[in-house]
Amino acid sequence: MVEMAKKGRTALITGASEGIGRELARVMAKEGWNLVLVARREEILTELAAGLIVEHGVKCAVIAVDLAEPESVGMIAQKLRERNVAVDALINNAGFGRYGLFADVDETAFRSMIEVNVTALTNLTRAMLPGMIERKRGWVMNVGSTASFQPVPFSAVYGATKAFVLSFSEALATELEGTGVTVTCVCPGVTETGFARVAGASKQEVDFRGALSAGEVARLGYAAMMKGKRTVVTGGMNAVLAFGTRLISRKMAAGIAFKLMKKRRS
Ligand SMILES: NC(=O)c1ccc[n+]([C@@H]2O[C@H](COP(=O)([O-])OP(=O)(O)OC[C@H]3O[C@@H](n4cnc5c(N)ncnc54)[C@H](OP(=O)(O)O)[C@@H]3O)[C@@H](O)[C@H]2O)c1
Repeated sequence: MVEMAKKGRTALITGASEGIGRELARVMAKEGWNLVLVARREEILTELAAGLIVEHGVKCAVIAVDLAEPESVGMIAQKLRERNVAVDALINNAGFGRYGLFADVDETAFRSMIEVNVTALTNLTRAMLPGMIERKRGWVMNVGSTASFQPVPFSAVYGATKAFVLSFSEALATELEGTGVTVTCVCPGVTETGFARVAGASKQEVDFRGALSAGEVARLGYAAMMKGKRTVVTGGMNAVLAFGTRLISRKMAAGIAFKLMKKRRS
């Protein structure tokens, strides 16, 4: 049953073509949100949008764009203006990693990773925030990771991008207190999605035992956002491990992660 209060509200979700983003689209459409779905693969987005329109009676638009391109956020903002769409909830979910030693990974992968995980997320937030503040209502969800909490050898740049996401989200949440706009950083641990495939992980490098599904992460993330929580680590064990890193030195945390990954890779 669609709650009346949410009728007419619009959420923009990046990375909606697969994994956690696709499940967030499903969860939010079920809750009555109109959606703007963003990712590169237009056909998949269009198919998803068509299904959500029929199933939930919501409005659903698609913007196919590569967020690694510097002009992507300007293009999204322009399209929203043309369609007269005000974004009430911004879900910065798109992101990817690349496994390997820093010196071995192609530098173009890092450039795109920083563009998508950091630059596009920051620019989209900057573009959508003034409208939310003016309307005295808004939600920002930034998808971080358990990697936000510690250095991550074999994913050094990815871990650094996710540390940015957490730090940025927490600072922004404080700046926005009392404005009616909340910022929630959702930090999943290993989740069963296309992430590991895109990151180029070998079979032994990925362990889905005890991993949450993308649907579970989406439901937990959405609930945390609607409660106005600042940070949520999805999954009890992930939360223990993420907050447990505070009890040891960052050098030790990096060393343990390095040994674990090295063992899996050998
Ligand atoms: N899965 C995990 O274990 C895990 C753990 C912690 C955090 N996370 C985070 O969760 C978020 C979602 O990841 P996921 O696990 O759902 O991965 P996924 O299944 O690979 O989905 C990633 C999404 O991001 C989009 N995307 C990637 N590069 C893009 C680009 N250049 N431009 C536009 N869209 C782009 C992809 O769409 P297109 O390919 O169609 O562009 C896809 O919809 C990411 O921020 C990730 O870092 C994942």
